[in-house]
Amino acid sequence: MRELSREFQASAATVSAALSELRALGMVRAEPGRGTFVTERGPRTEPDYAWQSQALGRARVDADRASRLGGYGTPDHIPLSWGYLAPELLPTDELHRIGSRAAKSARAWVMTPSAGSPELRRVLAAEYQADPGDVLVVSGGQQGLVFTMRTLAEPGSTVITESPSYPGAILAAQSAGLAIASVPADKDGILVELLADELERTRARVIYLQPRYANPTGAVLSPERRAQVLDLAAQHGAFIIEDDWARNLDIDGRTPPPLIADDPDGHVVTVTTLSKTASPGLRLGAVIARGPAGDRLRASRTADDLCVAPMVQEIALGLLTSNIWPRHLKRLRTELAERRDALIAAIGQSVPGARIQSVPGGGLHIWARLPHGADTRRISAEAYAAGVLVGDGRHFFVNEPPAPFLRFSYGAATPAQISHGVRQLVPLIA
Ligand SMILES: Cc1ncc(COP(=O)(O)O)c(C=O)c1O
Repeated sequence: MRELSREFQASAATVSAALSELRALGMVRAEPGRGTFVTERGPRTEPDYAWQSQALGRARVDADRASRLGGYGTPDHIPLSWGYLAPELLPTDELHRIGSRAAKSARAWVMTPSAGSPELRRVLAAEYQADPGDVLVVSGGQQGLVFTMRTLAEPGSTVITESPSYPGAILAAQSAGLAIASVPADKDGILVELLADELERTRARVIYLQPRYANPTGAVLSPERRAQVLDLAAQHGAFIIEDDWARNLDIDGRTPPPLIADDPDGHVVTVTTLSKTASPGLRLGAVIARGPAGDRLRASRTADDLCVAPMVQEIALGLLTSNIWPRHLKRLRTELAERRDALIAAIGQSVPGARIQSVPGGGLHIWARLPHGADTRRISAEAYAAGVLVGDGRHFFVNEPPAPFLRFSYGAATPAQISHGVRQLVPLIA
């Protein structure tokens, strides 16, 4: 220790910390009473993994699409397309406080039932005026999607999704071994006549929809279409997986209630998440399902994963029942309004020929159509190289895009970053 300290001009504490790390990596071993020795290593041979390709067979999940979903950029990138909130918009201090308290509570260190902690299920159920028995706690919205698709649809059958839509839903369907059929959507949501045709053609029993502030379009399913979609689900004996990721991200006023509120017969299974409003790192969401579907999902939950980490459930419960929570949501609304308006103004002033389909009344995203012939693949790649993240619209379509689009988001960048970032795009689009 003394020699190393002298050689590297480091304190004894630093040398000791370095040796602990090397020990953890298995590169040195300590022999009590004798000292620390470099671990002997046998001759390294090149591993041969070739056999795995045959054993694995065809990949179900499209790795390219998956890598783009988690493509965060670097901390230096301006996030003009990103589906989570900037850290300053999250209740971070409150989470630190609740997290430390939760770590010390006995409840954080014992298992909960696989459906989740009864207290948390009660609080989540109250948000949807649901029965707490119908709520299942899961690790975030994405897990909720793959879990519901896998459990509600037969392997090899078809799930219908509106298009454009959230690329993570396509990955979830692939992971569940389902075929994907797509139906176009406009500013009022999925086109119902085409959904009827697709249900007829594919005999699908599962439809994936985002009725409120869809990612990427910001569309809200119109009241007429809500009723028609529910009728179609009833006619075809189908489930609707309602991805209610944007709950509590209203900006302009109140949106219609979740689709599940209009459906007494258990067609709608709702997936919700705290990733957007509390913290993406919390990884906590819920599935609400009634009747035998709820029973199946509960059994499947136990098979998958005995329960979501009780500590995470404790933190979520602490946050949702804290008096900070309503104040946080109120502040969020004001902040998001300012950032949304800044983004719309910046696109309107600076991006030549961009057309915004509709100004979203909530959620996080803006869907902008570029002039015919614009190459969104090139634009998003060059923007990335210039330090700006912007979403290539192609990734949001299940099949070929009918026109060039970019997805913008207003929750992750400050108003100053928004105007700077959009200006950076101008020479790339012009
Ligand atoms: C539409 C939609 N659904 C679900 C999710 C999943 O979110 P999480 O797994 O972080 O809860 C996202 C995340 O971007 C999303 O945009």
